Amino acid sequence: MLFTATASIQPVFNKVIITSGPTLEPIDPIRFISNRSSGKTGFHLANEARKRGIAQIVFITGPTCFLPSEVNLIQVETARDMQAAINEHFTQADVVIMAAAVCDYSSAEYFPNKLKKNNDPLTLKMVKTPDILAELGRNKKKNQILVGFAAETENILLNAKNKLSNKNLDLLVLNEISLSNPAFGSEENQVFLLRPDGIKKMNKMDKARVAALVWDEIRDLSGQL
Ligand code: C5P
Repeated sequence: MLFTATASIQPVFNKVIITSGPTLEPIDPIRFISNRSSGKTGFHLANEARKRGIAQIVFITGPTCFLPSEVNLIQVETARDMQAAINEHFTQADVVIMAAAVCDYSSAEYFPNKLKKNNDPLTLKMVKTPDILAELGRNKKKNQILVGFAAETENILLNAKNKLSNKNLDLLVLNEISLSNPAFGSEENQVFLLRPDGIKKMNKMDKARVAALVWDEIRDLSGQL
């Protein structure tokens, strides 16, 4: 009799965290600052994790309509909320994929009443949000795999290589944002996959396929299959 081993009957990872969507940083009850992100890539990453038989998928997402099923769904708004949700699960996670477009800045002040417009220019003071991924990179254990995303418009490979090493990542998925590859919201994407040992330029493909290739790379990094 022939036995065929597949990833779905012998999962490598037990628990993974996937973040998705944008974060939303409030200014007043009406306004907020955010990033462009449809949440499609995170959605496909979760579906692919499920197909591969991963038991516990913690899906932490900012506001998006792309919500996968059969996951532990945690919906958040701000970078701080996302950080708190991740920290609850991080120590037991085998893999963390930070596909979320986390805002780098939030308003220094939250105005409890609507800022009324007048004829003067409005100046907002912004403060940095916690860099969640960098903190995870500092705290990760040897057997944890950490994956980041980057969206760059210039010096893309140099910026991405710096991010990979500064944030202590195992894998970085780089999106070049340009007129020919808008990435945000579209069905297809052209990405680069960067690991400490090399760079791969992928063809333009649909986001479900990008997600499958990211998981192939993670499986390869784990050295277990
Ligand atoms: O440095 P940059 O913000 O471009 O890095 C992008 C990566 O870092 C993404 O994986 C994003 O989810 C993550 N990030 C984060 N916390 C932030 C900003 C970005 O975890 N405050």
